[in-house]
Amino acid sequence: MTAEQFISKDYSFTIEKGRFTWSSPSNIALVKYWGKRDPQLPENPSISFTLDNCKTTTTLSFSKKETSSNFSFEVFLDGEKKDDFKPKIETFFKRIEGYLPFLKAYHFKIETSNTFPHSSGIASSASGMSALAACLMSIESALSNTISNDFFIQKASFLARLGSGSACRSFEGDLVVWGTHKSIVGSNNVFGIKYPYEVHKNFKNYQDTILLVDKGEKQVSSTVGHNLMHGHPFAKERFKQAHNNLEKLIPVLKEGHLDAFIKIVESEALSLHAMMMTSMPYFILMKPNTLEIINKIWKYRKETGSKVCFTLDAGANVHVLYPEQEFNQVQEFINNELAKYCQNEQYINDKIGFGSKPVNNE
Ligand code: PMV
Repeated sequence: MTAEQFISKDYSFTIEKGRFTWSSPSNIALVKYWGKRDPQLPENPSISFTLDNCKTTTTLSFSKKETSSNFSFEVFLDGEKKDDFKPKIETFFKRIEGYLPFLKAYHFKIETSNTFPHSSGIASSASGMSALAACLMSIESALSNTISNDFFIQKASFLARLGSGSACRSFEGDLVVWGTHKSIVGSNNVFGIKYPYEVHKNFKNYQDTILLVDKGEKQVSSTVGHNLMHGHPFAKERFKQAHNNLEKLIPVLKEGHLDAFIKIVESEALSLHAMMMTSMPYFILMKPNTLEIINKIWKYRKETGSKVCFTLDAGANVHVLYPEQEFNQVQEFINNELAKYCQNEQYINDKIGFGSKPVNNE
């Protein structure tokens, strides 16, 4: 797979104006992507659960403009103008311009809203960039009559990746692989693919409760974090570990081995944080309450035989993962023992979902 396949041919139609809406979810990595090279290519393959409730809905309105020398757009979050979002989108537009030649021909109004609170510590880049990429692909699809559904999703994922790496894993849930792995057919560095092998029923409707330990701004942006892997003393071993963990996950997903799943997932989360602790400069992204929660989860698992486990993003919040049939017990455990470690006792219940969807497209 190469980027060249996504360079647009001449369009068949001209359109003066229109608008498209897409809703796109966040995702949580089981094997983590951490380390990249230009242009947003991962140093190792990753796999994620697509989420169902944590979503961004974006409406992209477009109208033809007189001149086409610059990008022209405005951004709104929950109806409020957000000029501070513009630099990130401008960078995104610059990166994808070669693949969407209409970008300078229109003025865009981007209206976006999240189902999760903006200052919750939940990154909106995966859901936001994937929703925007899907809206842009709807425009390309309207301008051309040759775009198949498969191509649409692949190119949307490809474009989203250039906005935020993990955003390419928010299409076509429920498990998505991004990055070339020798045992996963079709896996590639350029866009995310639906995990192509059998997944045991144990993982159906797998639950993810996100414990909001720290709702503040990210201490370290993921761009800075990825860059710290350049010249990192353990980088080579870390990338190898991710390949191995993905290899091990294939039979685990097929056979539904939850104990083995827990070992891989928790080790991946701690390895990501270990990379941050051992980079130069070094960071500790966990908070004391993150550790309290991890220890409580381990204790609960030991005492009850539950299959609950945790994973982490590049921050202090904890994703509590568990099978659907444990929903009632684990909710009770979270309410009684974990919620007190969250800011305002706040957490968000989510579960594995199916990826981006068009909303009321005209
Ligand atoms: O998509 P980015 O560049 O924000 O990177 C996200 C990386 C992690 O969330 C920490 C791990 C992952 O694979 O999603």
